[in-house]
Amino acid sequence: MGSAMASGAGAISSTLQEHRVFPAVAARELGFDSWHVSSLAEYKRLHKRSLEDPEGFWSSEARKLSWFAMWDRVLEWNAPDAKWFVGGKTNACYNCVDRHVQAGYGDEVALIWEGEPVGPRTSHVAPGSAYSKEPQVRTLTYRALQQEVSRFANVLKRLGVRKGDIVTIYMPMVPELAIAMLACARIGAAHSVIFGGFAPHAITERAMDAHSKVIITADGGWRRGEVVKLQVNVEEAVRSLANNGHIVNHVVVLRHTGHDAPSARFATGAGVEGAVATKMHWWHEELARVSDACPCESMDSEDMLFLLYTSGSTGKPKGIVHTTGGYLTFVQTTCKLTFNMQPGTGQVFWCSADIGWVTGHSYVLYGPLMNRVPTLLYEGAPNFPTMEGGKGDRFWEIIARHKVTQFYTAPTAIRTFMKWGDDLPARHDLSSLKILGTVGEPINPEAWIWYNQHIGGGRCPIVDTYWQTETGGHICTPLPGATPTKPGSCTMPMLGIDAAVVNEAGEELEANKGGLFVIRKPWPGMLRGVYGNRERFVSNYWGRVKDPATGMPYYFSADGARRDEDGYFWVQGRIDDVIKVSGHLLGTMEVESALVSHPAVAEAAVVGMPHDIKGNAICAFVTLRPNWLIAHKRAPDEALKKELAQHVAKEVGALARPDQVRFTESLPKTRSGKIMRRLLRDIAAGVEKITQDTTTLEDFSVVSRLRADEE
Ligand code: WT7
Repeated sequence: MGSAMASGAGAISSTLQEHRVFPAVAARELGFDSWHVSSLAEYKRLHKRSLEDPEGFWSSEARKLSWFAMWDRVLEWNAPDAKWFVGGKTNACYNCVDRHVQAGYGDEVALIWEGEPVGPRTSHVAPGSAYSKEPQVRTLTYRALQQEVSRFANVLKRLGVRKGDIVTIYMPMVPELAIAMLACARIGAAHSVIFGGFAPHAITERAMDAHSKVIITADGGWRRGEVVKLQVNVEEAVRSLANNGHIVNHVVVLRHTGHDAPSARFATGAGVEGAVATKMHWWHEELARVSDACPCESMDSEDMLFLLYTSGSTGKPKGIVHTTGGYLTFVQTTCKLTFNMQPGTGQVFWCSADIGWVTGHSYVLYGPLMNRVPTLLYEGAPNFPTMEGGKGDRFWEIIARHKVTQFYTAPTAIRTFMKWGDDLPARHDLSSLKILGTVGEPINPEAWIWYNQHIGGGRCPIVDTYWQTETGGHICTPLPGATPTKPGSCTMPMLGIDAAVVNEAGEELEANKGGLFVIRKPWPGMLRGVYGNRERFVSNYWGRVKDPATGMPYYFSADGARRDEDGYFWVQGRIDDVIKVSGHLLGTMEVESALVSHPAVAEAAVVGMPHDIKGNAICAFVTLRPNWLIAHKRAPDEALKKELAQHVAKEVGALARPDQVRFTESLPKTRSGKIMRRLLRDIAAGVEKITQDTTTLEDFSVVSRLRADEE
């Protein structure tokens, strides 16, 4: 494994050698009444007990949800298949919304939406109305949420959505995104949310894989004052789906940006040009046709709650399956413990992730709502309105105005804020903050220390939460009242999580030896499968490491890690062919397929290279088709590099745009024909100098001949 790990974000250069340990503080010091777990000794005792009796631990957590029928068995484990709370009946929407209304909290704030200070004031105004420069805020109580969700659930029913169907959602960060997801859950349909930054091809691929017949979108979303045209992308996807024999029956469009382009082509009941069987509907017109009474469907604990696609080492994304009872239990518990959530105590939780990623599913939507703590949704960028030099203080202004108590973001964002300067957060009153979270990639100690000092005022515990789309929620994280923190370490396993660093033989390694991060026992939030692909589920996650004594498979996260002498975990990054770019997972194959779909490209190899802000950036090595160049009178020049980078952005999404495109006559390969990615990574990182340095072409022949035997 060795240097293969250097591809992960662990490769970020760290000039600061930070060995300080930050002690856990008393709850009172931060203005909390108490901590859920208030000392390291208590954590250790609880963790030990949770592993000795996982069924006892998880069933007592599950009892904190509302169930329509209790389970017969806590766990059925036929590795790698787990069933949790077998026979139990519940509903995710009921647990997030209805039970709070029934318990008398209907008038409490459930959700706070903050939009960009542009665009129409609300989501329901007519196109062309005046733009506002005021902050746009919309709050929804549990009662309002219940009404809106019920109404939209009836819209879905009217469009033929039934229990067990999969609804595709491609929306901006607006309350209606949360409403659409909860409406699906309410009627027992699974949602498959696609991040709004993805290109039409991603919608096509995912809707096809999920056999989705209904897509929910918006005319557009706001990003730095510009409209991101979501509906146009959906129309393109719907056409290419139709060309591939998959008919989407209905597209529901929320009017949000109110710009004219798609509206002009839009008439209720009209089909999409090129896919006439697909009916288009305005969200607000459909709402007017239905009532706001809709019961919550009684769901089996193991019924699918959602599908969420994530990148893997093949070109095709994996549809990660999460089910109902176990996921809800795990997310409710982790959200409560990690962020010390206490309902009715004035907490306001802000997780800045887009709902289109798992962080948004678990910790913007389900986690805070289940814990009855108001959740803030922000549509927009951290630097709009933009200040001189592209800087912005939007986040700090929002925290101060809404008195946010727990804030959760990604290292890439923190590094950006650091670059923008200490004076921006200093201008705002951040004294409401009590806990700071980070997620998405290893955080470099410099960024951790800056976050602690300049955002947390030196007083807020930092929870560095390590987890994955597949794990449903936090699997390693400090608990704020209990765990002393070390900058850069995600510290200790969550209660009920049996984490270890092992070698290929499954043997636990001694302190500070690098190895594979595994989980040795099932947990309620674990993925239940890869949609429609049993083989990938088994081989990707359960095929590599086994319990040396029993032969039972371990869950392998595809991350390298070490555990230090105090039992702290240090995640070193991915050891498979995926790259974390700004905290977002991207398959190298996805980017390579996009590149070779350009007629100029013969072959492409994509690797990550260290980047100060993004953690990793994409570097693409490309061989060109000479005949195409001649026929089109093109040269391997800067213009072509730009064109190829743009092509990737168009095919996959802007987040996949390579920072560097480098032309080469041939790709370095081993004798057996494998691309020498390690060599390419070293070259991209500037570790390895290329002997023959021409401006446009790279010749790897010398280095690759030297290295051919090593790979
Ligand atoms: C991969 C999973 C988990 C929600 C967002 C990402 C990396 C995530 C940390 C962290 C070190 C981290 C891992 C993991 N990762 N959080 N705190 N420290 N690495 O979900 O897109 O499924 O990515 O993100 O490499 O495998 P995801």
